[in-house]
Amino acid sequence: MQTYHHISGLRKALALHRQQGQTIAFVPTMGNLHRAHLALVEQAKSLCDVVVSSIFVNRLQFGLNEDWDKYPRTLQQDTQKLISVDCDYLFCPDEHEVYPNGMDQQARVIVPSMADVLCGASRPGHFEGVTTVVTKLFNIVQPNKAIFGVKDYQQLAIIRRMVEDLCMPVDIVAGDIVREADGLAMSSRNGFILPSERPKVNQLNQSLNWIADELKKGNLDFSALEQAARGQIEHAGFKVDYLTICESASLLPAANDDTQMTILGAMYTEGARLIDNVSVVLSD
Ligand code: PAJ
Repeated sequence: MQTYHHISGLRKALALHRQQGQTIAFVPTMGNLHRAHLALVEQAKSLCDVVVSSIFVNRLQFGLNEDWDKYPRTLQQDTQKLISVDCDYLFCPDEHEVYPNGMDQQARVIVPSMADVLCGASRPGHFEGVTTVVTKLFNIVQPNKAIFGVKDYQQLAIIRRMVEDLCMPVDIVAGDIVREADGLAMSSRNGFILPSERPKVNQLNQSLNWIADELKKGNLDFSALEQAARGQIEHAGFKVDYLTICESASLLPAANDDTQMTILGAMYTEGARLIDNVSVVLSD
C-alpha cells in the first residue's frame, strides 16, 4: 500500500491507473479503524480494480464543544489494518492540505432540509462539514465508486442526494452495518463507553428492532411506538437524543402508506453519543 499526504502525489498515481482503464473505489474514513471500516475496503476491492482509503479527522464537521480534540488518532495501527485487507492507497492529508485557505473561507456544500433533522438538529453544521469534505475528497480521488456505511444512515442519504443534485459522476454504494455480538453497532466512539454502561448500551439497537417488529405486525401508531421505545432506553439509564420512524429515502416522518421505513435513533451514555438505525420494508 502506498501512503500519500499530498494531493499532487496521489493524483499522479491515480492518473496512471485511469490511463490503463482501471476503475477506482474510494472509502473515506476518519481513522481509528475497526472491522466495519475494513469490511467497506473489502467490499470496495470486490467492486473496482484499485482501492483508495482516506483518513482525515475533519474538524469542519465537529461542533465547537464536540470531541474533535479527543477523537482517537491511531495512524500506525490503521495503516497495518489497511495493508491486511489489501488496500492499494491511503490518503492522509493534514488540515492545511485540505483547507489551504482556512476553514472559515472554505466554499461549502449544503444539502438543505435533510441535513437539519435528526443528527443535524443536535449537531448544527455537522452535515455541511461532511458534504464539504466529501466533495473535496471526491474531487481529489475522482473515484468511480465510493462506499459508505449504512450505520451512518443520514450521512449516506445526504451524500446520495448531494451526488444526484450536483451531477457528481460517482456511484454511491452502501455497506451493511457491522455489529458486536450483542447488537451494538461498531463505532470509533465505542471506546468512550464506560465499562459499567457497556452491558446495557445495546438497548438502542433492541428498541429499534422492537419497533421494526411492531411495524411488520401492522402496528402503525408511530408516535406511541416512538414514545415506548424512548421509555425503554431511558429505563436502561440513557438519555435519548432522538428516536424517529422515517420514510427511508426522504427521511421525512413516516406516513401510513409508506412501504419503506427506517427507524433512526441516537442516545447519550456518560461517555459517548451513539447512533443506530434499522430499516423495514412493508408489503402494501
Ligand atoms: P467514520 O466515522 O470514520 O466512518 C467511515 C465510514 O465507515 C462511514 O461510511 C461509516 O458509515 C462507516 N462505518 C462506521 N461504522 C460502521 C459500522 N458499524 N457498520 C458499517 N459501516 C460503518 O463517516 C465518517 O467517518 C466521516 O463523516 C467521513 C464520511 C469520512 C467524512 O469525514
